[in-house]
Amino acid sequence: MIRYLTAGESHGQALVGIVEGIPAGLSISTEYINHQLWRRQQGYGRGGRMRIETDRVEIISGVRFGKTLGSPIALVIQNRDWANWTQKMAIEGDGKSVEKISVPRPGHVDFAGMKKYGFDDIRNVIERGSARETAMRVACSTFARKLLEDFGIFIGSHVLSIGSAKVTDRSKIDRLIRKLTVASCGAYKTTEEADKSEVRILDPEVSKKAIALIKRTKKLGDTLGGIFEVIVTGAPVGLGSYVHFDRKLDGLLTQALMSIHAVKGVEIGQGFANAAEFGSNVHDGFGLHSGRVVRTSNKAGGLEGGITNGEMIVLHAAMKPISTLANPLRSVDLKRMKTLDARYERSDVCAVPACSVIGEAVVAPVLANAFLEKYGGDSVREIRTRYKKPS
Ligand SMILES: Cc1cc2nc3c(=O)[nH]c(=O)nc-3n(C[C@H](O)[C@H](O)[C@H](O)COP(=O)(O)O)c2cc1C
Repeated sequence: MIRYLTAGESHGQALVGIVEGIPAGLSISTEYINHQLWRRQQGYGRGGRMRIETDRVEIISGVRFGKTLGSPIALVIQNRDWANWTQKMAIEGDGKSVEKISVPRPGHVDFAGMKKYGFDDIRNVIERGSARETAMRVACSTFARKLLEDFGIFIGSHVLSIGSAKVTDRSKIDRLIRKLTVASCGAYKTTEEADKSEVRILDPEVSKKAIALIKRTKKLGDTLGGIFEVIVTGAPVGLGSYVHFDRKLDGLLTQALMSIHAVKGVEIGQGFANAAEFGSNVHDGFGLHSGRVVRTSNKAGGLEGGITNGEMIVLHAAMKPISTLANPLRSVDLKRMKTLDARYERSDVCAVPACSVIGEAVVAPVLANAFLEKYGGDSVREIRTRYKKPS
């Protein structure tokens, strides 16, 4: 099974990742991973750091002549700004000359992390608590994503709302997604379409509203959150399990999305809206089309009983507004025990578009594991002999 670990501090020398369980013979290139890293760095409303970063991955092991070897894959993303942090983030020394941070930002991990580890410097917490870590998560997950794509399973995403700027005409978006997902790369076409918008919103009018709102919010020194949708096409019926709680694919997918920084709500299909409806308005009926069983709708979001039902998987995640505010909330200096304004450091105003790209990434290893559980083998060639998409 696929598992991965990441290491690295936000302003440390590099992010490091190890991916295990990717079958041998998977074609992959550095450029392919870098494209996903680039996508994670886009979006209107990002802070200054995005201009410094331009993440690029180095593959250190586990790949030879463009194909995976089945051995652990080691990855590195260098911190392009490291030269400016060597003192503050030194591995050796006593750090006496470096100023400690003692004012926690409300909504961030600062206060609880400091208490948890008994630190007197919040930097020890925020360096790893930061969403910078998601760059390596995207890099690691791209191997699983490529494996799924080679078997016709594609992941995409788009943003549904940023603050009060919301997609209200859902039927228009659904029509567009239906048109786009007919392509052989299914959900990925939707993602490419969303990438054309600086906020990854498929409705151009809402896209404009969202950009204007981010501009206004920045001037106010405030921040924004929003909701994004992750879709998966081509997943065969029967991935996951209904026999035990910890094997249910709905639970595993939602955990993956919830583990992204600042994501505070996750839903499958029309989960929350369905709760207010009669069952007759909610459940997706069966029909027959040219002798094949079809569904009349997909309000369940492609998952019933913890397993895929052959329809498009639809997941929603809600990201809270960024915690670091240029016009800060009140806080306490924990060293001097005085109330004051919370600390501000270079920060995003809105990172929902980037979060949607991370959302695509984190579901990939979960889906790939469900796929490998059913059809797995040591090499891509071996899996091909086992995988025949059920009708
Ligand atoms: C792509 C992305 C970028 C983020 N950028 C920032 C940022 O610039 N400033 C900030 O305070 N929080 C940012 N966050 C959110 C924090 O990482 C997050 O709120 C914090 O780690 C606390 O965790 P929690 O919100 O999950 O409880 C970002 C999150 C994501 C996913």
